[in-house]
Amino acid sequence: MRPVVESGIAIPVPEQGAGRGERYRAIRAATLALAAPLSAEDCTIQSMPDASPVKWHLAHTTWFFETFVLGNHRPGYTFFHPAFRVLFNSYYNAVGEKHPRPERGMLSRPALDEVIAYRRHTDEAMLALLVEDESNAELAGVVELGLHHEQQHQELILTDVKHLLSRNPLKPAYHRQWPSTPIRASGPDWVCFEGGLHEIGHFGPGFSFDNETPRHRVWLNPFRMASHPVTCGGFMNFIEDGGYRRPELWLSAGWDTVLARGWQAPLYWERRDGQWHTFTLHGEIPVDPGTPICHVSFFEAEAYARWANARLPTEAEWEVAARNAPSAGNFLESGALHPLAAREHPADGMLAQTFGDVWEWTRSEYAPYPGFRPAPGAVGEYNGKFMCGQYVLRGGSCATPASHIRPTYRNFFPPDARWQFSGMRLARDA
Ligand SMILES: [Fe+2]
Repeated sequence: MRPVVESGIAIPVPEQGAGRGERYRAIRAATLALAAPLSAEDCTIQSMPDASPVKWHLAHTTWFFETFVLGNHRPGYTFFHPAFRVLFNSYYNAVGEKHPRPERGMLSRPALDEVIAYRRHTDEAMLALLVEDESNAELAGVVELGLHHEQQHQELILTDVKHLLSRNPLKPAYHRQWPSTPIRASGPDWVCFEGGLHEIGHFGPGFSFDNETPRHRVWLNPFRMASHPVTCGGFMNFIEDGGYRRPELWLSAGWDTVLARGWQAPLYWERRDGQWHTFTLHGEIPVDPGTPICHVSFFEAEAYARWANARLPTEAEWEVAARNAPSAGNFLESGALHPLAAREHPADGMLAQTFGDVWEWTRSEYAPYPGFRPAPGAVGEYNGKFMCGQYVLRGGSCATPASHIRPTYRNFFPPDARWQFSGMRLARDA
């Protein structure tokens, strides 16, 4: 069910079963391909404290490989620039240094060219190391973590650039291409899932982040899940029914946020001449009621669910329901860079659009699984990282690389975050 899109952005995809060097080359090249439609000015500035400039993403993903791979595994490695070790670090280093996140957009130096040279310098050393040290399992583990980290930042490049361009009165497009195939939505159904003892979490040989482990048992009551994510059409009905003006629908912190920020619609929506428009990476377009709702916060998802006489699923319910769903979907590589309407009805008892299109908010707070222990020799902030007051999202989006997602993947954001491709799917008790 891949959307038909003629993407002008060629995203290199590693071949199935490609060696580590080949995978490294393809994933690093994909990051540069995403920056290709942008000017040096686009890459330098930052539109809000939560977002980072593209130049910073390009450098920070490189910093990961320099710090955790080359610095530890390549004796005598010459660091590209000593200052970059602090400048492009995302957390406090051993001596408590960190460049403040809201000031990343003030780094007019190093210039974009120098950051590209930094990537080249690091890639040459990395590729040489990967050839020489092919059988080193510890090295393989950190490189794999670095590649998945790089893919996380590929998605952030797109969501951060989208926010940046949306703040420009000229409403510039990141890329003009738009899917030309007419797409028709199919209506949602409720799919029943059995209660009882289930297991969730990652197991087996493939890669996972440590937050997906350990696999453990959960007790679920029987539940139902909507076969499709909530659509823009559904959300328009919520708005027309006074959804943003009715405190009884909102969590109290959510209602405070609605009042403080003046929210009246999802992020990027604007009403003109009686019609909703939304800003996309292809420029501004009329809102298509058949496409999944996107750029809503946890608070908005929660309020919508209450209005719809339903609720958000827990992350355990989501994972159990998604386990057998098709893994194909509208991911980064489709080139749509926007959620698309469902084009086929799922088989009986199956969910549609589980992966890709939009990240789906769950009702679960982001916390370690029972029995979680950080692995010895943790890699910076990339292991054992848990937050207070953030919520889990599942399933990946139209900006997620296809090889980055799996049913056990746990994304997490604060409840007021709206700039990711975040939407929802409803659940009900059976
Ligand atoms: Fe990072």
